[in-house]
Amino acid sequence: MPIRAALVLHGPNLNLLGTREPTVYGHLSLAEVDRIVRAHGRRRGLRIECRQSNFEGELIGWLQGATDEGFGGIVLNPGAFTHYSIALRDAVASISVPVVEVHLSNVHGREEFRRHSVIAAVARGQIAGFGPQSYCLGLDALLALGDVQPRPGARVNQRRRGGV
Ligand code: DQA
Repeated sequence: MPIRAALVLHGPNLNLLGTREPTVYGHLSLAEVDRIVRAHGRRRGLRIECRQSNFEGELIGWLQGATDEGFGGIVLNPGAFTHYSIALRDAVASISVPVVEVHLSNVHGREEFRRHSVIAAVARGQIAGFGPQSYCLGLDALLALGDVQPRPGARVNQRRRGGV
């Protein structure tokens, strides 16, 4: 049966979006980012579930449970865990659900310590630097992989007038 649901996971400090370093991460709150991502998913015929945690173990639990919960793909912004969490990396490597790593900011143009991701090698790919659109591009990447399938008749790979 085709899987039409994707899980969007936000790591630590992303609950502070909107007030946290807005020059780097923008002025939208996490709830507003999630609305954009869910609307994008709807246009693609996907059910999107968004979750945020400041705790490594909770993120790992959600990664491990994704198959049983019926998710066909995961868009993961690991926040600072990107740069050092071997536990999160091992979780991504341990599951069969494809994971796309995303970042709001272009981590490759920032401090040296942000340029390395311990997750990237075990993720299906990485998207960074497009603000909230990084998540939408992550969903499109999952669709392109074919692991997550749109509802028949949903618009895929089509730009909406005036937006992604
Ligand atoms: C981030 C980049 C990380 O380096 C940082 O620790 C974050 C957010 C991003 O989305 O740009 O928390 O993942």
